Amino acid sequence: MARVAVTSPLPGEALDQLATLHQVTVRQGPPLSGEALATFVGNAEALICLLADRVDAVVFERAKQLRVVAVYAVGVNNVDLPAAYGAGVWVTNTPDVLTDATADLTMALLLAVTRRVVEGDRFLREGRFTGWSPDLLLGTGLQGKHLGIVGFGRIGQAVARRALAFGMKVMYHSRRPHPEAGLPEAIWVSDLDALLGQVDVVSLHCPLTPQTRHLLNRRRLFQMRKGAFLINAARGEVVEEGALVEALTSGHLAGAGLDVYEHEPQVHPGLVNLPNVVLLPHLGSATRETREAMARLVVENVRAVLAGGPPATPVVGPGLPPPT
Ligand code: DGY
Repeated sequence: MARVAVTSPLPGEALDQLATLHQVTVRQGPPLSGEALATFVGNAEALICLLADRVDAVVFERAKQLRVVAVYAVGVNNVDLPAAYGAGVWVTNTPDVLTDATADLTMALLLAVTRRVVEGDRFLREGRFTGWSPDLLLGTGLQGKHLGIVGFGRIGQAVARRALAFGMKVMYHSRRPHPEAGLPEAIWVSDLDALLGQVDVVSLHCPLTPQTRHLLNRRRLFQMRKGAFLINAARGEVVEEGALVEALTSGHLAGAGLDVYEHEPQVHPGLVNLPNVVLLPHLGSATRETREAMARLVVENVRAVLAGGPPATPVVGPGLPPPT
């Protein structure tokens, strides 16, 4: 029996099943980082953690028995991947199982902000609805509008499929074109600045890496078309949040739909009172079905490594260096 350290309870039965095979310690409490996380891991051979736990180099230096860090998320920006690789520890994530839920939520944000859904709900609850009117809370239609997707992995592609079904024209920016996506209607644009100047809505779906931190900085936010919308269900640090507030308050951007924040869980105070912004508490993958499937996948990965095999969804590991 190996020791498995888990930083938080997870939905579903997967951890209970793991506990029939290994010695599982589940904690409850705020996210852990650095020395505190290393102490919690102790002599465990596996760590299951959330995206808010910071798995720094010190964890790999101190937790000598550690063989796998299974992150309960698709994004693994909370893990020092070079340190994991240097220590010969597997790092795994939860791709695929959350693609549809995250793409659905992206569309929910897109529709909510362009059709003023949250504003309308507030308006009615405040008792201000006195009857149908030709110009009440007019929004922006999506048909024929251009969506620019930044990052064309699984989630970006799933968003493209949904947007095409809504009659949008889709362009995307990524390091290379993705013919294997089977979406010939979606046009690859190699230059991000060129894409930003051509689309009505920008939706972010790239991972957070040193290269993508503040990818949408002040210059690029103002490079977007006047009256465009920004949707972010990826990672908050991809956007320079202070500059986004400026772009929204100055009227350069028409609105934003945000699920993630630069200093999560803090939200820039300048966003909170803007009526043209829809703010969600990081709900991208938040369906019961998806969160249970994510739990099953982290457990599958841990079981595979503890049994001596490779995990199902590795990001980094012995012979598998960090992506560049
Ligand atoms: C992820 O998986 O990276 C999401 O942000 C949470 O599901």
